[in-house]
Amino acid sequence: MSGAGDPELGPPPVRDDLADVEPYGAPQLDVPVRLNTNETPEPPPAAFVAELARRLPELRLNRYPDREALALRTALAAREGLPVARVWAANGSNEVLLQVLQAYGGPGRTALLFRPGYSMYPELCRTTGTATRTVTLAEDGRLPLATVTADVAAIVAEDDPVVTLLANPNNPTGALVDHDVVRALHDTVRGLVVVDEAYVEFAPDGASVRDLLDELPRLVVSRTFSKAFRLAGLRLGYLLGPAQVMADLRRVRLPYHLDAITQLAGIIALEQEDGFLAHRGRTADERERLAALLGRLAGVDVLPSAANFLLVRTARTDVFDRLLEHGVLVRDLSSAVGRPGTWRVTVGTPEENDRLVAALAAVTAPDDAGQER
Ligand SMILES: Cc1ncc(COP(=O)(O)O)c(C=O)c1O
Repeated sequence: MSGAGDPELGPPPVRDDLADVEPYGAPQLDVPVRLNTNETPEPPPAAFVAELARRLPELRLNRYPDREALALRTALAAREGLPVARVWAANGSNEVLLQVLQAYGGPGRTALLFRPGYSMYPELCRTTGTATRTVTLAEDGRLPLATVTADVAAIVAEDDPVVTLLANPNNPTGALVDHDVVRALHDTVRGLVVVDEAYVEFAPDGASVRDLLDELPRLVVSRTFSKAFRLAGLRLGYLLGPAQVMADLRRVRLPYHLDAITQLAGIIALEQEDGFLAHRGRTADERERLAALLGRLAGVDVLPSAANFLLVRTARTDVFDRLLEHGVLVRDLSSAVGRPGTWRVTVGTPEENDRLVAALAAVTAPDDAGQER
């Protein structure tokens, strides 16, 4: 028997291009020390939770939220000194970037990416049917001007990428992008240049390319509340750029994509920004302390970082698994970077970082029995 009433008929096969795709995401393992997803270990300020609870009753949750998230975008616009029409907000910067690719990518269009880079970029391109071209960064994780004038220019001549995606600071290398390199990139490509500043609040003042927005008409800057703002559980990201881009994102966003509680929480977080970001100095100090401790171990090489994580290369190639045996979860990047023994670690609490260092010291000790494995 076949047909609409066939009780044997299961769901249709998934889209051909998804048939071999594994669900994406960093492992969420229940281990004592989780340093693999670059959150800030300190919770949001208690004053934030109290204020959110105080103002929640203002919301009329039986009604759909403000589709334009106008109050939140107005607060973001005030923070950035931009008109509200040049600000967009969505569920985490991942959704912002997805919407950018939904609006500008798609079949027959190409995005330009850099390697090593944030692992979601190829995923977002794949789900939107956007082709990719990838340029390799320098050994130290930076994007040199010469790479733009040579490698990027060659790709532009061949495939004319409609979107170029790069992070400042870069994930996983932690390197900042020079403003002149962003200018050169913008001059070289003809499409949109998306600078993802998910970690910029950890970087020294002046690292953001936000001030280039008026100079470079095809530049957009994405940000998130997940990292330095300590609200990864909330899902809130935003985009700054030309009003035309924000108008184009409206064409692809779901109606009411940003819920009312998130909008209110974002407004309160901006009101309390100083409290939220008070940990910045502590986190940067802790990053430098951790980098120094790790770098002292034999066979361990740490890249300088402007973010809240470190890219580590170890002579041993089984470090990820051995650290896990010690209850420490880091992010294995061996295959992403193409070099076994490459991993990224989030700067945790001083206690978590000490546990990582102790575990790594045990794992890399020359007389460690596991060496022979
Ligand atoms: C470079 C980069 N961009 C964007 C994101 C996504 O952040 P969000 O939580 O805002 O979706 C991350 C998260 O790890 C990231 O590393």
